[in-house]
Formats: sequence, C-alpha cells, structure tokens
Amino acid sequence: MSPRSASRAPLTLVRIDATSDAPLHRQIYDGLRDAIVAGRLAPGAQLPPARVIAAELSVSRVTVATALSQLRAEGYVESRERSGTFVSTSIPDDLLTAHLRRRRLVQPLRPRMHTPAVRKEDGFGDETRFAPRGGPPRPFRTGLPAVDAFPWDVWSRLVARRLKRSGRALADYGDSRGYAPLRAAVASYVAAARGVTCTPAQVFITNGAQQALDLIGQVLLNAGDEVWLEDPGYPGARRAFHAAGAALVHVAVDDEGISVDDGRRRAPSARMVYVTPSHQYPLGMTMSLARRLELLRWAREARAWVVEDDYDSEFRYASRPIASLQGLSDGGPVLYVGTFSKTLFPSLRVGYVVAPEPLVEAFADARFTLDRQSPTLEQAALADFMNEGHFPRHVRRMRLLYESRRNALIRAVKDIAPDLLELGPSDSGMKVVAWLPPGVSDRDVAARGEAERLELSPVSQYATNRLARGGLVLGYAAFRSTALRHGVRVLASLIDG
Ligand SMILES: Cc1ncc(COP(=O)(O)O)c(C=O)c1O
Repeated sequence: MSPRSASRAPLTLVRIDATSDAPLHRQIYDGLRDAIVAGRLAPGAQLPPARVIAAELSVSRVTVATALSQLRAEGYVESRERSGTFVSTSIPDDLLTAHLRRRRLVQPLRPRMHTPAVRKEDGFGDETRFAPRGGPPRPFRTGLPAVDAFPWDVWSRLVARRLKRSGRALADYGDSRGYAPLRAAVASYVAAARGVTCTPAQVFITNGAQQALDLIGQVLLNAGDEVWLEDPGYPGARRAFHAAGAALVHVAVDDEGISVDDGRRRAPSARMVYVTPSHQYPLGMTMSLARRLELLRWAREARAWVVEDDYDSEFRYASRPIASLQGLSDGGPVLYVGTFSKTLFPSLRVGYVVAPEPLVEAFADARFTLDRQSPTLEQAALADFMNEGHFPRHVRRMRLLYESRRNALIRAVKDIAPDLLELGPSDSGMKVVAWLPPGVSDRDVAARGEAERLELSPVSQYATNRLARGGLVLGYAAFRSTALRHGVRVLASLIDG
C-alpha cells in the first residue's frame, strides 16, 4: 500500500451517523477499531493527522483526538514521535482471536465427559450442595431470595399467555445464543442499570450464571492457563475453571476487593481473573473505583480476560453503585455475567454473559455442543416480564424488603450478641458475614447449628488460605425479622455455650 493510499484509507472506513445516539468520538473509535480488527487497516499502516480526519469528517479535532487516545490506550494504535499515528503491529483483538483459533487447533471443545473430575482431594467439598437440604429454608440459608414475595400470579399469567398464543412456535429448536427479545431486554437493562456498553448481539443467554462460567472456561482457557480467583471466593467459579483445566491462583482480597498487587506477585501473566466487584462473595465489600481501574490496567498489560460476576448488584441499600468493570473498560476484555437467580428465583436457571462481540459465536458453538439451548418458554415469559414493567417493580419491592430484613438482622445482633458477632459490610446484597470471636471455629459452630435447625455457612469453607478469624455467612433475604431474631439468639447460645 502506498503511503498515500494508507493515509486515505481510514476516512472511507469511518461513517458518521448524525442520527445515532452514540457520541461522535465513539463512532470514530468504532469505525477505526473495526477496520483494524477486521484487517482492513493493516498493522503498521499510518493514519492521517487528526486535523485531516477532523476536516474530512466535519468534526472537531478534539473529537478525533479523543477517539485516537482511546485507541492508543487500548493498544490498537501507537504514536511515533514526529512521524504520526500508526496501527499497532500487535493488536489486542488479533491476539485474542488468534488465541481462540490456536485453542481450536490444538484442543477441540472438550466434551463433558472429559472434563477433569472435581474431586475432594482438590479441595472441593461441602461448600456446594447438589441437592437442597429439604423442607422450608432455615435461618440463615444463603443464596435464596424471598420466593414467597415473588408475583407468582403474574408469572403464571405470562407463561400461560405465551403457551396459548405461541406454544407451537416456541416448541421448535431455538437460537443457541438465546431468545432474541430476551437478549434485547437484557441488553437495555444492563446498559441502564449497570452502565454496561453492549448491543443485544453481545448478550448470550445461559442456564444460570454457572453455565456462563463453565462456557467461559471452555471457550477461553487452555489446560494449565492461570486464573486469578478471589480468596475467599465463589466455589461455583472455582469449580468451573478447574473443570476447564485451569491452574487456579488464589489471590488475597482486602477492603477494596481483589488485591492486584498480590495477583501480580503470584501470577503476573495469568490468562484470566474472576471477580465479584459489586459485592464480593462471600465477604460483601464493593470494589473501589481505584481498584477497578488498577485491575483493568493489569488486564490490558497482561492481555488477560476479566470475568465480572454481577450476581446480586440489584440490591444496594446505601451509596450509589459504582459502574460495572465492563462499562469502565470501554470495550475492553471484560465478560460481564449476570443471573436472574437472585432477582426472580434460582430454579428458573436463566443467566447471561455479555461478551466482546467476536466471542459470541464461539460461545454459541460451545453451547450447541453442550446442550444446544435454554428452554424457550421460560425465556419468552421472562422477556415479557421485563418488557411489561414487572421486573423493575419486583426488584424495587425486593430492595425495600431486603433492606428492612437486613436492618432487622443488624438490630438483632446489636441487641443480642454485640460482643460475639461482628458484622462485615452490609451495604448491598442478600447476606452478611458475621465474624466470630478469635479462636472460635466457624465449622464447629456451623456443625452445632445443624442440630438447632440453623443453616450456617462457615467463611473458611470458601477460603484456601487460613483466615485470621472464623466467620459465618448469614443469608437474610428469605427470612422475616422474627425468624432472624430467633436465629441470632440461637447462634449466640451456640458460641457462648
Ligand atoms: C457469586 C455468585 N455468582 C453467581 C451465582 C448464581 O448462580 P446461578 O445463576 O447459576 O444460580 C451465585 C449464587 O449463589 C453467586 O453467589
């Protein structure tokens, strides 16, 4: 390509749409980035000066400079002193898709039966129960929303209407990526509620967040790839990435979330990091903005994927939520995972992952191999539930209900066991950690709680490193204040006794 044609190329590749909601700098960024990723702008090609681009597109130089600086920050272009701006010779997405291709060549998507067993000797134990305990939930079961406050009448009406009107159409095979109206509803919900930047094409519906994590592991990890996990952390993620053959790297957490310093020390060039930034599982803190930016900086440097599990961000009682990592990364390598297990009910088994667009087909491919698709009827009813306003109404009601239950639990601890239980952060979510006095074993207390009909989850079962103190994760969302108060009284007697 002659220098002249190289420098003309980008201008024909960028289309400004005056009717679009997207800011002009974003449109320029998108046009150039797409051209670079698709290879229409070759590595090493020189871009025209910002003032030339600005004049040709009839936009301001600041607008062009903003787009170029974003592309530079993400590694798509680089500046050479006194020569101008050039397409980078190593381009992030190029590397990412090359990584995918390489994986395909050496290791076809692994059939289920061949996933490494998740065994007790690998440290997997009772933290996940395969069958429910049976009977009504007892305080302080975690992970369960107030299913008795769910609008079952509305739900049954929506399901019945769908069956009546479109039962036959819903009976055929559906799209492995998910039911299109639900993908669209999720895209606008996560954009509005969590600042996630995506199109419906990037939304992929799964059987719960668990399947999203499993697919992420299968599609993006090679055996032996290092994955940072929060310690203590979510066992479901640990299992999924272990099953994909990853080398798990347990990284310390502090008041601001995962410690990037500790991660860098343990595995500086890990392939992936899994985090719960809105509400750390199980300790409950929110990842600070500074830590979010630090994590994204590391991920860019290491060319690592960030898996953001936003499992219960809807329930926030104090400060305003911090924007999602996905939104902050502005098109970076973040996979945003969500679920309806907490907002609706867990047996619905509907979750989603918002993936960088180039990955959606790879997920669909893996999903097709695994179980083809999620049931269409539930997806269609859920799309109606969202599109007809029931979802925001229900979430609003539950936020108020859970807040009052959380307050009741805090009050009960203060009144009954102020010297025995020290509560962790409780600004959000459906559970809170109660730290035990030094020297008291959380596993012993939990075991004794079984006999007293309490469902207690020891923090130590979520941790690989020894904790300074034992603690119990107390779920409160599914329990009335009288049950919570009674539970605190029994718990206090177990510790004191
Ligand atoms: C951290 C975390 N992620 C995800 C989930 C939800 O998983 P699923 O959608 O598979 O029910 C939970 C539920 O307990 C969770 O605690």
